[in-house]
Amino acid sequence: MKILIVGSGGREHALAWKLQQSPRTEKLYCAPGNGGTAGLAENVPIAVDDIPALVAFAKEQHIGLVVVGPELPLTLGLVDAMTAAGIPAFGPTGEAARLEGSKAFSKDFMARHGIPTAKYGIFNGVEPAKAFVRTFEGPWVVKADGLAAGKGVLICETQQEADAAIDHILAENAFGAAGAALVIEEYLEGEELSLMAFSDGKTVVPMMTAQDHKRIFDGDLGPNTGGMGAYAPAPVGTDELVAEVQRMVLQPVVKAMAAEGREFKGVLYAGLMITAKGPMVLEFNARFGDPETEVVLPMLKTDLVSTMMACIDGTLDQLPLEWHEGHCVTVVLAAHGYPGTVRKGDAIRGLDQAPGDVIVFHCGTTRKETESGALFQTNGGRVLSVTALGETLTLALQKAYAGVKVISFDGMQYRSDIAHRALNRS
Ligand code: AMP
Ligand code: GLY
Repeated sequence: MKILIVGSGGREHALAWKLQQSPRTEKLYCAPGNGGTAGLAENVPIAVDDIPALVAFAKEQHIGLVVVGPELPLTLGLVDAMTAAGIPAFGPTGEAARLEGSKAFSKDFMARHGIPTAKYGIFNGVEPAKAFVRTFEGPWVVKADGLAAGKGVLICETQQEADAAIDHILAENAFGAAGAALVIEEYLEGEELSLMAFSDGKTVVPMMTAQDHKRIFDGDLGPNTGGMGAYAPAPVGTDELVAEVQRMVLQPVVKAMAAEGREFKGVLYAGLMITAKGPMVLEFNARFGDPETEVVLPMLKTDLVSTMMACIDGTLDQLPLEWHEGHCVTVVLAAHGYPGTVRKGDAIRGLDQAPGDVIVFHCGTTRKETESGALFQTNGGRVLSVTALGETLTLALQKAYAGVKVISFDGMQYRSDIAHRALNRS
């Protein structure tokens, strides 16, 4: 079948890479795609939020499966629009994607259904928000309600910082409409874990665990980013812990979403804090994580087209999800200025010298054909996601960093301590 992937990051390149391995895949399109997807798919210049143009393209090309990568088109109802046009689309409806699109909705939903999460309040006025901060001990976590590209969460050590965060979001409109309301919650201590799961609306099947690295610098220092690297599996996610999250979080969420008339199909991503009191939900995403996808999909043995069709058809209970043995690591190479204002257009060198056992997923690149071959340039904050599999975590890390060593571009930044938590356990 013909498949249309919507999105343009490392996640979408990894999706294209895995979908291309399916015997059911005839041709891949990626809208708008990047310099990496150009090698596997036909890039189509349609923006991820141009719902009518995406539907028109899918109809015209007789697309048999649409795979939606990012959250924005999901919350805008791309899956609803494709479904209405008779085109199978993988992902939740706009109503179901509110689990990610509104933190206030998500927190109230968790409270209604007894899902473990930090205690919180929701506010749209400055004074009540500041008064709430004074009702419990810090640190405080202040979050813009809507989508803010990973930048809407502010961790505040002092009351003054919390007050400033409240002013920033509510009074100064720092996140526009996404900050019309905010959530204030208690700070949770522990180790983070990303657990993604496939859902067909009734059955929910966890994927392999992964751990992201949100801060820009080694040692988890500096500002938050979209994610500077990941590895799978994450040892903090023991089999017992995953079973507990399945029982306490994933199954109740899928059941309650259906009961509320918002059946959740697609990828349910639980961002968890593993605290001394057990796993607590930090957030839900309604899609594959980035860079988690770049380490989890290479570990997946099962055909991804069949898995996605089973989610759409409601037959996930009949599909055994199988995983490769071993470990996968990805190291993100980020552009000059990231996570602030990034510079684009730097030439990327050494891509053709990456060892054969390294998979270089492109996140923000462009590809230009020249007489001497393809020329790649930086085109976003996260540029490349250098990935390797290994029998052990150490071997996977060695291979990934061997790949990093041969690639360069001006202003390149990366973390040299990916998987430090897992390594420090043993
Ligand atoms: P979120 O988008 O809600 O996952 O928040 C982004 C990041 O902020 C998380 O990955 C955590 O590192 C941090 N964070 C969010 N909520 C909390 C919390 N209640 N306690 C501690 N850290 C948090
Ligand atoms: N890696 C975190 C996210 O995709 O939101």
